[in-house]
Amino acid sequence: MVDVRNHQRRRIFITGLLLILLIAVAGCGYQDAKYPEEVNMGDHHGHHSSEVAAVQAASCTDFKDARGSEPVRSFQLTAAKTTIELNNGQKTDAWTYEGTSPGPELRVREGDRVVVQLDNQDIDKGVSIHWHGVVLPCSQDGVPGVTQDAVWPGESFTYEFIARHPGTYWYHSHQQSSEQATKGLIGRLIVEPKEPTYQADRDYAVTMQKLNNHKLTNGQTGGLALEARPGETVRLRIINAFNRVQHMGVAGTDFRVIAMDGQDLNGPTDLSEKWVAIGGGQRYDLLFTMPASGQVQVYSRDEVEWKVLLGEGAAPQKLGNDADWFDFTTYGTPVDDGITTDMMFDRTYDLKLGGAEINGKRFHEIPPIIVQEGEWIKVRFVHQSGSEHPMHLHGHLFKILTKNGKPLTGSPIYADSVLVSRNEEYEVAFLANNPGLWMEHCHNLNHAANGMTMMVNYEGVTTPYRVGTNSGNLPD
Ligand code: C2O
Ligand code: CU
Repeated sequence: MVDVRNHQRRRIFITGLLLILLIAVAGCGYQDAKYPEEVNMGDHHGHHSSEVAAVQAASCTDFKDARGSEPVRSFQLTAAKTTIELNNGQKTDAWTYEGTSPGPELRVREGDRVVVQLDNQDIDKGVSIHWHGVVLPCSQDGVPGVTQDAVWPGESFTYEFIARHPGTYWYHSHQQSSEQATKGLIGRLIVEPKEPTYQADRDYAVTMQKLNNHKLTNGQTGGLALEARPGETVRLRIINAFNRVQHMGVAGTDFRVIAMDGQDLNGPTDLSEKWVAIGGGQRYDLLFTMPASGQVQVYSRDEVEWKVLLGEGAAPQKLGNDADWFDFTTYGTPVDDGITTDMMFDRTYDLKLGGAEINGKRFHEIPPIIVQEGEWIKVRFVHQSGSEHPMHLHGHLFKILTKNGKPLTGSPIYADSVLVSRNEEYEVAFLANNPGLWMEHCHNLNHAANGMTMMVNYEGVTTPYRVGTNSGNLPD
């Protein structure tokens, strides 16, 4: 008798377990439908309407760079499905700008008006171009459902902005970016300075990218060979267009880190035997002189296929795995720009970074950072779980104030992203000087696709566009 009752109890228990499991699975399914039918990303949830009404309303679409007498550089990019034949003979289906991935390298000069016509030939899911790291007017930011509608097959959109800050940038579609960047919709954008800070004999930009499953350096499998002769100075602009951090080594010469996220560092000094950690979406510019022995190798220790071989000659000695990491918090010389932890901030925000959420919430459920033009904003990023989070802000440059509570002691670092690794926290400051509706998200685009994406909204700025399944604008 006792046995039978036990048996029944076990059966009830198992049925209960199954039920709980079923509910959990259904719950996950529900969460996977991450986009509602319609959401207004310009909403200022949690704020008193009176506060909002005090600021005059303007639409994101009103913010543009007025035309002046600046030189105009025009480009046209067609987004289309293609089959790419790689240099190792393999073929891969890709979505491309102008038939290649990365798309054409756009090189312009500081102060130029950049005009880019995007035509979507046949990408059914819609496309856009986001100018990653470029400080530009809201209407040109390329975020479907916030700054424009996705560009559907047969449609066009023309981007127009003044390239104000020289540096190394890149572009990618911001419609379902995780999928579209992986399928190939990326490219390089270089803004050359009017007054060069450095005279380099060679100026190269390289993209590390994972196209489907192929690891490509400027589109090449197995690494990229570039010309350089002994004694020449090389500026190498490295763009990590992949999701995960890459630790880059320079073998064969000393080097300097002269820019991060396109922005010059002050007083960079020679480095040797250092791993330089470049997070997803970040750019590092290196400067070095080619040695008499002929060859320099710049390579990722994480993914052997991402490497650049400069010059010819005997392969240089590689770095030890236990070599130190480059530490930007103590590198270079300080400049008194008045932006410090002691200054008065108008608003302070704390963002706790989970594996797929920020402050425990995801997507539009994360309350936006609300700012008013002219305010100083401080944001603290705290790593809570998951792998590293390269946190990226649109439309602004922020200054990195502290790492793990300690103020930076070297060159000021102005950047559009900060790589927040395990056990780390950073404080950054920015001036709200570019009214609009701006994304703030993790540039591990898988994390973004899982929910690590939120908004920085200026009070009173609205958008006529909507995110969601109704419009088809899916900007993660
Ligand atoms: Cu490359 Cu929203 O970013
Ligand atoms: Cu992340």
